[in-house]
Amino acid sequence: MSDALSQEIAGRFNAFAAPYLAAPGDSFAYTIKVEHTMRVLALADTISREERLPAPLPQACRVAALLHDVGRFPQYEMFRTFRDAQSANHAALSVRHTLRARLLDGAPQVIRRLAIGAVYLHNKRTLPPLRNRDLGIVARVVRDSDKLDIYKIMLDHFSQQASEHPELTLDVRDEPDAYSQGILDAVLNHRPGDYRDIIYINDFKLMIIGWVYDLNFRASFRLLQKYGYLETLFASLPQDEQIRSLDGQIHAALAARLNHA
Ligand SMILES: [Fe+2]
Repeated sequence: MSDALSQEIAGRFNAFAAPYLAAPGDSFAYTIKVEHTMRVLALADTISREERLPAPLPQACRVAALLHDVGRFPQYEMFRTFRDAQSANHAALSVRHTLRARLLDGAPQVIRRLAIGAVYLHNKRTLPPLRNRDLGIVARVVRDSDKLDIYKIMLDHFSQQASEHPELTLDVRDEPDAYSQGILDAVLNHRPGDYRDIIYINDFKLMIIGWVYDLNFRASFRLLQKYGYLETLFASLPQDEQIRSLDGQIHAALAARLNHA
């Protein structure tokens, strides 16, 4: 589904990205972000539809999805990295550049507020308490859609032998049998992982497995199950007792959300 305003803003987003895509030698970095944005848009639309969100929330979700990573373009241009800790908070950059490039001009005030709020909140480790209930919904849709696409990006990446572009990938050690006990304990106790604690590639896999506890909508769990991301991740981890027990816990949590959410 789409609407005239979302199509207009999609056109502005593409016009915003165009000069970056034309930069000699760097287009791969920006292409990744354009493609990610379009998949997040489609996921946000699917979630809004399945959750039967009332107007104007589906439109706000589409607009926020389109704009959530606008800041990635100036971030990479300026700092040559997508790591916020080594550069700048890319969500804040998204808000700044959305306003500077007037990407929301002509949008109704309610859509502007919801979209800007959701863009700003999309990369927070946890959502703060929000008085605006609609903003909470739009922010959750964008966060779930973003996470669902990051599962795809990471599994695509793990399945490659070596990365062509190491600067875009994680700086982690690829030791197939190693993982950090602290990360596993955080996931077992439903605590959000911290990128800074990651040492091994398996730590990253464990951290994104733990996102099961951060997804918000039944539709998100259905999509997670449909694409089989958890099965693929568990199959690539060491098959020891602790991991098997986590597998059981995570699949029980997924089944519970699919049945009752
Ligand atoms: Fe982002």
